Amino acid sequence: MGLKKLAVGFALSASLFAMGAAHATDLEVTHWWTSGGEAAAVAEFAKAFDATGNHWVDAAIAGGGNVARPVFISRITGGDPMGATQFNHGRQAEELVQAGLMRDFTDLAAKEKWADIIQPKDLLEGCTIDGKVYCVPVNIHSWQWLWLSHKAFADAGVPVPKNWDEFVAAAPALEAAGKIPLAIGSQPWQTTGAFNVLIPAIAGKEVFLKVYKDKDATVAAGPEMAKVFKAADDARKMSAKSNVQDWNQATNLVITGQAGGQIMGDWAQGDFQVAGQVAGKDYTCLPGLGVNELISVGGDAFYFPKLEDPEKTKAQEALASVMLSPGTQVAFNLKKGSLPVRGDVDLATANDCMKKGLEILSKGNTIPDPPRLNSEDTNNQLNDLFVEFFKTPNLTPEEAQKRYAEIIANAD
Ligand code: BGC
Repeated sequence: MGLKKLAVGFALSASLFAMGAAHATDLEVTHWWTSGGEAAAVAEFAKAFDATGNHWVDAAIAGGGNVARPVFISRITGGDPMGATQFNHGRQAEELVQAGLMRDFTDLAAKEKWADIIQPKDLLEGCTIDGKVYCVPVNIHSWQWLWLSHKAFADAGVPVPKNWDEFVAAAPALEAAGKIPLAIGSQPWQTTGAFNVLIPAIAGKEVFLKVYKDKDATVAAGPEMAKVFKAADDARKMSAKSNVQDWNQATNLVITGQAGGQIMGDWAQGDFQVAGQVAGKDYTCLPGLGVNELISVGGDAFYFPKLEDPEKTKAQEALASVMLSPGTQVAFNLKKGSLPVRGDVDLATANDCMKKGLEILSKGNTIPDPPRLNSEDTNNQLNDLFVEFFKTPNLTPEEAQKRYAEIIANAD
């Protein structure tokens, strides 16, 4: 190409760029995705949105959902709404919707046939209040995973456990080798999360549903749940020395072989991936703690506050559409460690853990995520109880169970 042609070419693309830029609308998006794997995943959303000619303005809040959600809510209720925001599937945005602060995307959902493409069906139902659609589900995350470090067990000279009981039995060997058997971050949601994973593994799906769906306080106080409290007592002893806050710091203890394992949602996979670790070679993932192979159906949805600016309002629709597009669903979820919300995408490159999750999902062996069944108030009471239980060795399992049953008796 001659110099003149090249110059014309440059001028042309510069003016096209300027035209594009003139139309690019900034949209601030809030979320709590700050770990290595999470950041890699959210970058896929930003890239896809920017490719629509708009501009993703990233507003990540560190410290997990419990820190981020009150900030999102106070910004929306305080008249300083963002363009879009993450919440978990379930009831976290219920009051914002009832207060009329959030956009209704029923028309877009109908136009793009969200009801036909989103699976499982109840994810879109979770976005629907009084027949209107208020959010776009972007993934399926499950909590029911035990992540085990091959290095930690090799160093301790014991085989990688195949289930929770073997893991508890291996704890003394891990300790003798200077390892923390179980890594748990100190943020309250992590201890509640681990406890909620122990319920279906130790007491079964029915007990889980009786407690969280039916709010059956007798079952919460009964002998099956006593077994779960006994397992939680083991978990707190095994995790006593894990002196970290964030979930990904705890995951890092597993990645580096300083800890034997961690009970954590499948978002941990994103961080194993960023660290270059391979499932089955460097680490093992046991769904349902290797006892009862099921997964909870939780995860993330994006909500869109009502805005006055018509350009931003249009950009919100572009964002909702692109989040559900097949290419974005694959790119985002492969990095996030979650499963796509559409079944018609190609997951040939999914890793072993994700394949296990997909298989369990296809068998329908699922439970709802507790945030979908409990109000935020109930979840916060559970968080207070479990962080105290894990940090206070003389709070007995019996006393903790009594307080747990009271929370369930008063839950809404
Ligand atoms: C979200 C995940 C996130 C995790 C840890 C969960 O509530 O659903 O997307 O990775 O929190 O930050």
